[in-house]
Amino acid sequence: MNLRPIRAEGTYPARMQSHLDSILKRIDSDERGAIERLCDFLRIPSISTDPAHTADVAHAAEWLVRDLRSMGFNAASVPTIGHPMVLATHPGTGGSGAPRVLFYGHYDVQPADPIELWDSPPFDPQLIDGPRGKRIVARGAVDDKGQVMMFLEALRAWHEIAGGPPCPVTLMIEGEEESGSVSLEPFMNAHRKELQCDVAVVSDTGMWDINTPAITTSLRGLCYLEATLTGPSHDLHSGMYGGSLRNPINALAAMITSMHDSSGRVAVKGFYDGVLEPTAEVLASWQKLGFDEAEFLGEAGVRVGWGEVGRSCLERTWSRPTFDCNGIFGGYTGIGAKTVIPSKATVKFSCRLVAGQDPERIKSLVEAHLQAQVPPGYTLEIQSHGVNPAIHVRTDSPFVACASRALKRVFGRDAALIGSGGSIPAVGSIQRILGVDSLLVGFGLDDDRVHSPNEKFEVTCLMNGARSHAAMLAEFGAMTT
Ligand code: BES
Ligand code: ZN
Repeated sequence: MNLRPIRAEGTYPARMQSHLDSILKRIDSDERGAIERLCDFLRIPSISTDPAHTADVAHAAEWLVRDLRSMGFNAASVPTIGHPMVLATHPGTGGSGAPRVLFYGHYDVQPADPIELWDSPPFDPQLIDGPRGKRIVARGAVDDKGQVMMFLEALRAWHEIAGGPPCPVTLMIEGEEESGSVSLEPFMNAHRKELQCDVAVVSDTGMWDINTPAITTSLRGLCYLEATLTGPSHDLHSGMYGGSLRNPINALAAMITSMHDSSGRVAVKGFYDGVLEPTAEVLASWQKLGFDEAEFLGEAGVRVGWGEVGRSCLERTWSRPTFDCNGIFGGYTGIGAKTVIPSKATVKFSCRLVAGQDPERIKSLVEAHLQAQVPPGYTLEIQSHGVNPAIHVRTDSPFVACASRALKRVFGRDAALIGSGGSIPAVGSIQRILGVDSLLVGFGLDDDRVHSPNEKFEVTCLMNGARSHAAMLAEFGAMTT
């Protein structure tokens, strides 16, 4: 489909302009309502990875369906092989030429653990004062319930002021993003026709800073594995056996250490084959962003960075692959001491991947690297928790131009074009199955404590996000095929 903006920069058709002004006013006047609705949504502990919360996940899907129906959407919570998918459509109020927009987000959240480190219960959202105004503290506040509510608030305002969005809209809101998205592709293949669209809008990323919006143009991929090394047939007294056989924890620790060389590179043979370097132009644009590494690390409570020698912090997180352990256990981990050589040790680890790396190939290379070090007679069992490739989004599309104009209107400054170190598997699925790129326009901040205790979302970001989505819809409505 060949889409182009029908108007010169900065000029909306008169009807669209007056609608948008009223819509932005409507959003501003209902900040309290937007906060209340988000808090209501956040009270549902929709932890997708934990079977004990299956009913809560379904409840969150139904909550969304009810809200979407109230704004004129044909909405349903569609069962899948895993958690339900929320699918909703609206024909839009514009002519037949406007592009169809697919909004994607996720209503599931990460587990709240370690629960004792929260200052308030994770599913009892608190509106508290922070240095940049009010913030909402709860699991899922920014990842991704708050960001889903931004486009819902924009759609609500369009419904109230103009009877619906100015272009046809489809929403696909997933309940398994935080736990591997196993049903996503089967669902998308089965509903390919209903999901057909001209552009996807995904709000699950960050801003450059609280005053500077961002369009993310790359995401890293992921290869997540779990490896269990089994040695002795049962736990042993470490006095009787210590020194006479290889301790599985010690052996696993040595294997983990072997994953990096002394220059911070991943030491797996072939790991960097085919890795694409950012162009000089892209590197220069990152340089111009004025990234403050000390502030970024300081936010994490760290003074000294670490990574591949000769690479800047932004290069390391946006354009270079990694190996990181995510969890490790084995032996005695209870209170006090127990002198034991364990039978088994386990590590959960993941590689962030970049353009040019085939996730399946990386998985095989890493597996082979580890298997080659297994002590004689011991076994290493490796289980996959999912792989997905890195994503690059074209920046020369008319949709990126639309989003840039909308963001400039709301923030009064240009959006930064940034990379991201995170992964959103759906963006790759949307590219492969529906054949469209996603506009990655998110409103999180680096200090939001994503996946961590005391996750929060600034109210300013919530409201500016809603305004930005409303303005983007106006831009899309002014396009024609
Ligand atoms: N919202 C994040 C992805 C993200 C994080 C984007 C930080 C930009 C900055 C998303 O919900 C997420 O956590 N994704 C997982 C994917 C995984 C479970 C397959 C990730 O990146 O670890
Ligand atoms: Zn997440």
